[in-house]
Amino acid sequence: MNTVNVDLILKDLKAYVNGAVVKCCIAVENGKVFKIAKETHMPKADTKISLNGLLVLPGLIDVHVHLRDEGKACKEDFCTGTAAAAAGGFTTVLDMPNNNPVTMSAETLRNRMELAEGKVLVNVGFYSEFPKNLKEIDEIIGEGAVAFKLFLSEQVGGLNIDYDYALTEAFKTVASRLPIAVHAEDKNMFKNAENRLKQRGCNDVKAFLEAHSETAEVKAVKRIIEIVKKTGARVHFCHISTKKGLKAVAEAKKSGLPLTCEATPHHLFLSADDLKHAGTLALTMPPLRDRSHVDFLWEGVKNELIDVAASDHAPHTIAEKKADKVWDVKVGIPGLETSLPLLLTEINAGRLGISDLLRLMAENPAKIFKLKDRGSLKEGYKADFVAVDLKREHRIEAARFYSKAKYSPFDGRVVKGKPVKTFVGGQLVMDEGEIIAKAGCGEIIRSGGLKP
Ligand code: DOR
Ligand code: ZN
Ligand code: ZN
Repeated sequence: MNTVNVDLILKDLKAYVNGAVVKCCIAVENGKVFKIAKETHMPKADTKISLNGLLVLPGLIDVHVHLRDEGKACKEDFCTGTAAAAAGGFTTVLDMPNNNPVTMSAETLRNRMELAEGKVLVNVGFYSEFPKNLKEIDEIIGEGAVAFKLFLSEQVGGLNIDYDYALTEAFKTVASRLPIAVHAEDKNMFKNAENRLKQRGCNDVKAFLEAHSETAEVKAVKRIIEIVKKTGARVHFCHISTKKGLKAVAEAKKSGLPLTCEATPHHLFLSADDLKHAGTLALTMPPLRDRSHVDFLWEGVKNELIDVAASDHAPHTIAEKKADKVWDVKVGIPGLETSLPLLLTEINAGRLGISDLLRLMAENPAKIFKLKDRGSLKEGYKADFVAVDLKREHRIEAARFYSKAKYSPFDGRVVKGKPVKTFVGGQLVMDEGEIIAKAGCGEIIRSGGLKP
């Protein structure tokens, strides 16, 4: 006789467990998976929810999200950004540091965590940019940053990005302690090109694409690889978008360097051609590329050169997305509410497996960023799930996003496959597109770094 009484049982479902889709029930106790088994082996429960045959996956993890808030709350705040995450099937997101103030000290990180605590609907971990004084790195790690972020595309943090010496010292200090995520585009290279184009009166999208060339990405990737060789730092390349960029990462990885990389759904599902109708709404850095690059990225997904799919959810106000001159447009695309339906559509078309989706959006993210007890459905792991209806066709409607950024280059696209229920720590947060939990139910993830 089973005498245990748990908080919740999810039943009448299929779940992706240990590499296979199986019919089972999931018992949840104290925010964790207590048991995955057939109904006859389930303990008693206070609450039972029938999922009517839905497919339950581990909650997805988006390692590249700009939640904004603080000084940029007009674009997004912790509440709207994490509502968008829950609506999109994500139970954990990692927040980028290019905020106002920039997250680049123990104090800015602590303030951000405290503000987020009462507002988030999913679990959130935080990146820090590098501080000017490398001695502060210990404190930042001690405060619980999950990773460092380095923008080579603009001066965001305290390191002077023009100096290899500064980067090398910073990478040495962080080395094996936390991963470093890098936006690899060479600032000087595209700024010089931008200035030349401006002087010639070229201010349109075509000029933007010319300035943000493949070479600007490759140059930054190769520069970082050299620094990794010297320091042994664990580097994760954000949004790789070009053939040569991906090739350079793949070769360096093959030689044994501790590297990983990500691709975004917008670089996988759109090409530069789409800018014709989406216009500056689809302007992002690195930009959308020609078809040949897109095809090469898909090859990279299939042969596992690409480790992660991340949305790079980068919301701006609609007013900021339009300007007379392309250089004045704020770059970035909101992606939290479109990423999973786009990938489920690929699964339905037979071009991607569920195991690929979970490798890219749950297992590898958890592994790379050391997110303990997340990324798989396992007894003892966090009860973070997304239940999807694989067969449900729907139209992407940006006007209905939870994100404050109610526009998308995918607006109007018909997709097949929909996140229907999102559970965070055993709590139902999103049900049939509605957010039903109270803000603050997400967890603030503090990485295991020791306080100095
Ligand atoms: O398109 C982008 N948007 N690229 C970045 O590197 C920054 C981001 C943002 O924060 O808006
Ligand atoms: Zn970036
Ligand atoms: Zn970004």
